[in-house]
Amino acid sequence: MSTVCYDGPSNFIDIVEKDGYFLIKNFFKREAVEKARAELKVILDKDEARRKKNPGPHVDSSVEYRSIYTKLMHTIWFPSLQSPTYLNLTNDMFSSAVMKDFIRGLAGDNFRMRVDLIRRSSGDNDWVDDFQLPHVWHRDTLGEFTFGIFFDDMPESGGGGTAVIPGTHWDTRDPRWDLMLGPEKNMTRKHHLGNRDLLTMPADYVADAKLNQRVAKKANKKKVEISGQMGDIYFFLNDTWHGRAPNITDKRWMISRIGCFGTEFPFKDDIPLPASIKNLTGPMSEHFNRHQTPNTQTDTLLRRMAYKRKSNLLTRMAAREKDKLLTRFYSQPDIAAAREAVLNAHNV
Ligand SMILES: [Fe+2]
Repeated sequence: MSTVCYDGPSNFIDIVEKDGYFLIKNFFKREAVEKARAELKVILDKDEARRKKNPGPHVDSSVEYRSIYTKLMHTIWFPSLQSPTYLNLTNDMFSSAVMKDFIRGLAGDNFRMRVDLIRRSSGDNDWVDDFQLPHVWHRDTLGEFTFGIFFDDMPESGGGGTAVIPGTHWDTRDPRWDLMLGPEKNMTRKHHLGNRDLLTMPADYVADAKLNQRVAKKANKKKVEISGQMGDIYFFLNDTWHGRAPNITDKRWMISRIGCFGTEFPFKDDIPLPASIKNLTGPMSEHFNRHQTPNTQTDTLLRRMAYKRKSNLLTRMAAREKDKLLTRFYSQPDIAAAREAVLNAHNV
């Protein structure tokens, strides 16, 4: 019997077309989520005990399933290969008529999975600013989309969920590379070549970025922290400006995520599949197959977004403002000399 109990409206493609994300309440039977949660908790607890006993680098790829353990977050890749009840949930989600219809409208008949992961926050407060997030506003690779499953009853806000700015998937500008929206960590344009002093613009440039402040103010009014309870699921297009909201509750929260790509977009093939992937069953097994038949359906949301999105007047002007400030930054004698040095060192 399926762990999915949702039987409400199915217009999720329209919701995502408009907002770039959805939240579905009571998608799974709660008992099924609780059962999977118990299995996932054992996996996280065991790895955490190991990490505490033998502190090492944050990223540990010496184990079968990569573990990333930082002050704020504990992440383990491929829970689908480690927890049978979690695999059941995900397979039931992708087999459900409502999600199959949604994905067909989004990406076509086929899609690829890059990774699934489980993460639990440490409970440390990581608040940064009214608008800026601990994991800064960004967009990822074109054609990428993510499903999330809640394994706790999260508060409405402040639990460190994924935050999005609805509608920004239709804007051609990238918040991290084209704009400077925060009080700090405003990136230059990847011209740093490993020199960290060249990676971000100094904070004193922010005062002159008035149009960017205007973008940030508007975005701040629209931002949404996606939060839910056990049984709820969410989804976002990775092109929607997003980041991770701060956790200000002093509590630990568990969420799983499944990252996917439309077949006709360049696949971010940076995560090697473990040998045990052959043990998977159902849709999870089908979609981890890296040799999908490319989608030929022309009218998918991913295609419409990629080819029809436009620049917005305000973000276009703000991007131009950043260009000017970057030109000023790069012409500072010390920065110009540092850039020259890295270019020479890389023989560019
Ligand atoms: Fe992201």
